[in-house]
Formats: sequence, structure tokens, C-alpha cells
Amino acid sequence: MGVSSSDPLLLRAARGEVLDRPPVWMMRQAGRYMKAYRDLREKYPSFRDRSEIPEVAIEVSLQPWKAFQPDGVILFSDIVTPLPGLGIEMDVAEGKGPIIASPIRTQQQVDNLRPLEPEESLPFIKTILQSLRQEVGNKSTVLGFVGAPWTLAAYVVEGKGSKTYSIIKNMAFTDPTMLHQFLGKLADAIATYARYQIDCGAQVIQLFDSWAGQLSPQDYETFALPYQKRVFQQIRQTHPDTPLILLVSGSAGLLERMAKSGADIITVDWTVDMADARARLGTHMKVQGNLDPGVLFGSQEFIRDRIYDTVRKAGHGGHILNLGHGVLPSTPEENVKFFFETAKQISLATAA
Ligand code: CP3
Repeated sequence: MGVSSSDPLLLRAARGEVLDRPPVWMMRQAGRYMKAYRDLREKYPSFRDRSEIPEVAIEVSLQPWKAFQPDGVILFSDIVTPLPGLGIEMDVAEGKGPIIASPIRTQQQVDNLRPLEPEESLPFIKTILQSLRQEVGNKSTVLGFVGAPWTLAAYVVEGKGSKTYSIIKNMAFTDPTMLHQFLGKLADAIATYARYQIDCGAQVIQLFDSWAGQLSPQDYETFALPYQKRVFQQIRQTHPDTPLILLVSGSAGLLERMAKSGADIITVDWTVDMADARARLGTHMKVQGNLDPGVLFGSQEFIRDRIYDTVRKAGHGGHILNLGHGVLPSTPEENVKFFFETAKQISLATAA
């Protein structure tokens, strides 16, 4: 597919076009730091309602679009949203994150998983993505996202978030065959789900392997990387033109390995200097990031300096400006606004 100048900025950057300024969006740009979101949360206290009732999810997804006009609008959802379609019941608890009703720890539970039929179990995703595309037109890019097999397995085996990942690591290091079967099933389901999101209107897909940074590099190569590859390969088979982004939290020790996943764009968090990341990944690899979300607690001068520093180090082209992870809940909204305004005034064409 050719690059068209009527395409939105983020999509053009993701396809490798060199632009006057890097496109900018934020992870968790819809969420608790916004008063509009907190007000809506009072009306819809259940996370699943907020993300699965189409009108509500559309409204939340568009709250940051209306307030800041980011170059990327991400679907409001969660990485665990597709799990009930596999037969894994879940909820997303306030202040805690995903909770799995019956954690998967036996071969029989793995055998009982159903293949994902997104048209049946995730019909709301179609309504949400179609509406988002219609709403933003070609002024912004609509991003879909999925959780990667290792990170989803971590939630499903542990039953909730964890600091140590003891239960899944116990399984990985004592019963790897069963875990590999589970990861394989998750990879196929996630690829199916990502393809469905693209068919429904998502223009870019971000794969979140948030907890793969908890693995040593050799275990990353065994339990995370092969399944990231499997997801990306399956998406590419049917949707070769959709740019694919990979995120791993705390990824400083893994960057070169992440580049082997088949992603077009690697998210760089703030544990790596952007110039070092560029040197390590090579100029052909596109990057996203990499400001510390905590920078948004600083003064406007501080925020501006950090934006310019990142943009200078990322160099011309192949960069999507973003935080290295999600906006923190107590971030002042006016600082998010300032971040977007400042980023949109950058002009690389006239920069020295
Ligand atoms: O970025 C966006 O604006 C899109 C929406 C989005 C959410 N979750 C909404 C959400 C995205 C992309 C996610 C991905 C997600 N969910 C990840 C990968 C990204 C990352 O953080 O590394 C992970 C690990 C999860 C699991 C999860 N869901 C966690 C850890 C939490 C936070 C727990 C807490 O309360 O601090 C959630 C809940 C969640 N998902 C919230 C949001 C806005 C906060 C709770 C709420 O709004 O009520």
C-alpha cells in the first residue's frame, strides 16, 4: 500500500515517512488523571461496563481526543478483555487491575480453553473501533492493542498482578511443556483478536508484553520472544500493511532481543537514553517513547526541555513521541495539555 499524504501523521511515521515533527500520543491518555473520566466512573463504577458498553467506551476513548487532539487515539479497553471469550472469567478491580476468577494451573484447564471467536465474544469492539475511525477521520490514527502471551499468562496463572511472578515462574521452570501449550493457545487467540481489531478499523496495533521485563534475557528468549513473533507473524500474513508496535516495561536489557520480534516500532522506556537506544537498535528500526511519566509533575520549562532532549536524541524520522509508560493517575491535566501543545509546535524541518 502506498503512503498517502492525506493519511494521519502517526500512520505515516509508523510506515517510515520522514515528517516535520514526530507524531505524539500517550499511553493511558484516557484515565484517572482526567476529571471527565473520574466523573464518568461514578456513573459506571464497573471497569467492564466502561470498556464493554460501546457508547461509554467510545466516550472515554474520545475524552483525550477532545481535550488535547493527540495524533493517536487508543481504544479504551484492557489487555484482559478477550479472556472471557477463551473461557477465562475476569474482572478489573479498582486500584488493583485484573483479577482472574479461577487461575489456570492444570493441564486440564489448558485443554479446556476455547478458540477465540471475536465476532461472538467481542462484538462491542467492532462498534467502538468503527465509531472512533468515523469520529477522528484522517486527523488522527486509531490504535488497537492486545496483551502478549507471556503477560496475559502471568495474570491468568497468578490470578492477579504480582511483584515476584513466583507461580508462573514455578510453572515455567518445573512444567515448561504445559506453559508452552498455554502460551501457544494465547498467541493464536491474540493474533485472531488483533486481526479482528484491524478489520474493525484499528490502523496500528500495539502489543503489550508489560511483564516480559521480569524475565532474564535467556528466559525472555524462551517464554516471551517466540510468542511475540508468532502473534506478529500471524497478523502480517493477513494484514501486511498494519504497523506493529512492541512494548516491554523495564526493557533496557532486552532492546536488541525485542528488535527480533518482527515489530516495526520498539517502545523505549526511560531506563534507556534515547540516543543509546537508537545506537543499539540501528537507524532502520523505528522507536516510540521515551519520557519518564513522572516528568509531567515538573514545571513547564522542565517538560519542554525533556521533550526537546528526547526529540533531538531520536533524530529525524522514525520516531513517535510518547511517554515510556502510562500517564500516572495524579498527573495535572494542564501538564498533559502543555505536553501535547509543545510537541505539536516542534518543527524539525527548520531545526538547526
Ligand atoms: O492507554 C489507554 O488509554 C488505553 C486503555 C488501556 C487500559 N489498560 C485501560 C485501563 C490500555 C492500553 C491498558 C493496557 C494494560 N492493562 C496493560 C499494558 C500496559 C501497561 O500498563 O504495561 C496492563 C499490564 C493492564 C492490566 C491493568 N489494567 C493494570 C495493571 C491496571 C491498573 C491497576 C490500577 O488501578 O492502577 C488496569 C486497570 C486499567 N486499565 C485502568 C485503565 C485506565 C485504571 C483503572 C480505572 O480506570 O478504573
